[in-house]
Amino acid sequence: MTFRESTPADLSACSRFFAEVFNAAPWDENWSLESSLQRLSDCAATPNFLGMVAEDDTGIAALAFGYWQRYQEEQHYYLLEFCVANDRQGEGIGARLMEALHARLQNDNVNRIYTLTARETPAQDFYEKAGFYVSPKMILMARRY
Ligand SMILES: CC(C)(COP(=O)(O)OP(=O)(O)OC[C@H]1O[C@@H](n2cnc3c(N)ncnc32)[C@H](O)[C@@H]1OP(=O)(O)O)[C@@H](O)C(=O)NCCC(=O)NCCS
Repeated sequence: MTFRESTPADLSACSRFFAEVFNAAPWDENWSLESSLQRLSDCAATPNFLGMVAEDDTGIAALAFGYWQRYQEEQHYYLLEFCVANDRQGEGIGARLMEALHARLQNDNVNRIYTLTARETPAQDFYEKAGFYVSPKMILMARRY
């Protein structure tokens, strides 16, 4: 398995398995190829984007997409999307991709990584095992239109 920075050429393969992952349990969302491609392409067009993929001879098996933002004297990386293809989950690929991302971000002098995910889900367990914690200080606020 190779862990490398993503390129624009990866977007169409990534958007295919991204839609399959989040249309499946436990997320059961409603992604089309068009909407998943736009989400990932928009992220890739954001200033300070850094994306990584895990790839072997069968193709790309996982992605980590996000971008860093300046915060006073620091740089904080917002991990927008992270997923492993449905038929490759549970093989340790997610953990290894996250380690590769942490190493890359530390090498780039990023001070912090953060993400949004659903409470009390397998994803929360995964992130906690990868060293993330639930912020005791910050809350997510939203308003619906
Ligand atoms: C969550 C996800 C990224 C984990 O990647 P993965 O490659 O399947 O996970 P790994 O095999 O690397 O497992 C790493 C650790 O997380 C734990 N973990 C992974 N999936 C889990 C699950 N469904 N429930 C509980 N723990 C889980 C593993 O037990 C493992 O712990 P261990 O090191 O103590 O054995 C992947 O399953 C996925 O893409 N899920 C759907 C999309 C998603 O939820 N994305 C993240 C939130 S937006």
